[in-house]
Amino acid sequence: MKVLLTGSAGFIGSHVAEVLAEAGHEVVGLDLRSGADVRDGAAVDRLLPGVAAVVHQAAKVGLGVDVADLPAYASVNVYGTAVLLAAMARHGVGRLVLASSMVVYGEGAYDCAEHGPVRPAARAEEDLARGRFEPRCPRCGARLSPAPIGEDAPMDPRNAYATTKLAQEHLAANWARETGGVAVALRYHNVYGPRMPRDTPYSGVAAVFRSALEAGRPPRVFEDGGQRRDFVHVRDVARANLAALVAGSPGMLAAYNVASGEPHTVGELAAALAAERGGPAPVTTREYRLGDVRHIVASSSRARRELGFIAAIGFAEGMREFAWAPLGAPEPG
Ligand code: UD1
Repeated sequence: MKVLLTGSAGFIGSHVAEVLAEAGHEVVGLDLRSGADVRDGAAVDRLLPGVAAVVHQAAKVGLGVDVADLPAYASVNVYGTAVLLAAMARHGVGRLVLASSMVVYGEGAYDCAEHGPVRPAARAEEDLARGRFEPRCPRCGARLSPAPIGEDAPMDPRNAYATTKLAQEHLAANWARETGGVAVALRYHNVYGPRMPRDTPYSGVAAVFRSALEAGRPPRVFEDGGQRRDFVHVRDVARANLAALVAGSPGMLAAYNVASGEPHTVGELAAALAAERGGPAPVTTREYRLGDVRHIVASSSRARRELGFIAAIGFAEGMREFAWAPLGAPEPG
């Protein structure tokens, strides 16, 4: 089918473009890097005739630096998605795949041995400063075990990026209900792989570590390195987008975690990359960032069941490639 891919020249978008084209789809790209802005309704109008589905990857990404970033996040991510959805309605395009993020959940899921599933509050600065990194049971203060988070977990966006990703999901659900369209939101966990944008204040940790190693500096592991994430390879993420093109139901938004199903700690990530490159060895600094969550790992079962999506690239194999893969330019906008 003919697919409009926004963000087609970006890190994830460029891999999505390759996978869609390999599967025989005709890909029409829209990207700020080639002068086309998703906020420009007339530009979107020119690209939509004949398009059967939109895959929306264009976004301002990362955690942001401070409140001065708020207008840019709201403009690109919220307003841009609104412009796109209105244009889709004008052209009768009935299918959307949206790049969302696990950041919509906030802190991951946890079990207390005594109280079962609990939602810990944000960690207190005083605890972090004393090196008490693990969240505690809000009822008894006991240490918790991290559990895989499912798509029905409550939403708890804790920064501007997360808030705008959740707003995109809500707008997509509104659009689906109003138009009878099919919307699928893919909640990416920590994506890494070739062409990941190199180290900026907006980069994910895998790119930060890779950039440090390339410059001969040790990766700096914050907290005690025991924080867990699900690092998912960008080609697997692209395959999930392909699968999402034929999923979902009219009139609603379906959301899926896109993850490897193989959680690892940030310390393990640093060690694996440093080992592949022959050092320098990581240093664990016990620094902390107030906005960081401790553990967030995904349940991949809904994506497996409903999209038939299973990640194919394991951690060891993915890190072997990523340690030496070319990084991309910092993201624009
Ligand atoms: C990241 C992305 C988020 C994206 C999500 C899912 C950023 C900044 N965050 O969230 O936008 O939606 O993945 O793909 O892009 N750390 C270090 N050393 C460093 C930097 C970070 O140890 O030099 C640690 C952090 O303290 C944290 C972990 O690595 O515990 C992950 O950090 P990061 O990749 O920045 O953010 P996420 O919260 O995982």
